[in-house]
Amino acid sequence: MTAQIIDGKTAAAALRARVGTLAAQFLADTGRRPGLAVVLVGDDPASAVYVRSKGKATVAAGMESFEHRLPATASQSELIALVDRLNADDAVDGILVQLPLPMGLDADAVIQRIDPDKDVDGFHPMNAGRLATGLHGFVPCTPLGCLMLLRDRLGDLSGLDAVVIGRSNIVGKPMAALLTQASCTVTIAHSRTHNLPHHLARADIVVAAVGIPRFVHGGWIKPGATVIDVGINRTDDGLVGDVDFEGAASIAGAITPVPGGVGPMTIACLLRNTLVAAHRRAGLVLAADAI
Ligand code: GUN
Repeated sequence: MTAQIIDGKTAAAALRARVGTLAAQFLADTGRRPGLAVVLVGDDPASAVYVRSKGKATVAAGMESFEHRLPATASQSELIALVDRLNADDAVDGILVQLPLPMGLDADAVIQRIDPDKDVDGFHPMNAGRLATGLHGFVPCTPLGCLMLLRDRLGDLSGLDAVVIGRSNIVGKPMAALLTQASCTVTIAHSRTHNLPHHLARADIVVAAVGIPRFVHGGWIKPGATVIDVGINRTDDGLVGDVDFEGAASIAGAITPVPGGVGPMTIACLLRNTLVAAHRRAGLVLAADAI
């Protein structure tokens, strides 16, 4: 193996510590803690685990965590009414509705109901539009975490060739927008792309977010490239990413492991977005380079 392993756990711990310091400063300045409301509908066990760890991380960073649970039988109007209450609650700076929602509920309508200035997931079309046009908004947590790992490793990204594999609204599309803004030359590939190896052969940066175990063969990676693996796939071999880790690690310059790469950055970025939301709502300026 030649690649450097990108340690997302350590990077996430450092980010959480910076957020914690600034959250304490926010408390001193305003007399209240930044607040994050997380809504869980139904009892999907994986979602319950995510929601619990988000709540724990929020409190550990010195912020207020508000957990709201609705039964799987909740109606669309009950869920919308809860979002309306959270939108109106001054103690709530960020709102996250855990996805996926149980069958019969319209996630798009719920996301569009969240106040865009409390949309710390960055899923509201207003925030997608702000990102696409270079305005201040909220960037989805996973691609934001990937960008931070890339910047840590590579510094200035300008002029680099980047291939994003996956075109979801949550990862692929915002990732491509962030890399474009960072002056990369960006290709968006996906499961239907013809001749993916041809595109990867010139990619200095690969972000794999296609949701297919070991979809990217190690031999397709350009020597020295930086590989960010967003995939978390449960297989008979355990948790694996979207990239053939062993194969890619012998060719790449640096690569994220699964687990321990992108995953920890996602929650840290959620805390970061909540801190930013609190400052904006309080009319306070947060130095761009502080976090
Ligand atoms: N489900 C899995 N990841 C996420 C996320 O980042 N945000 C929300 N709201 N739901 C999710």
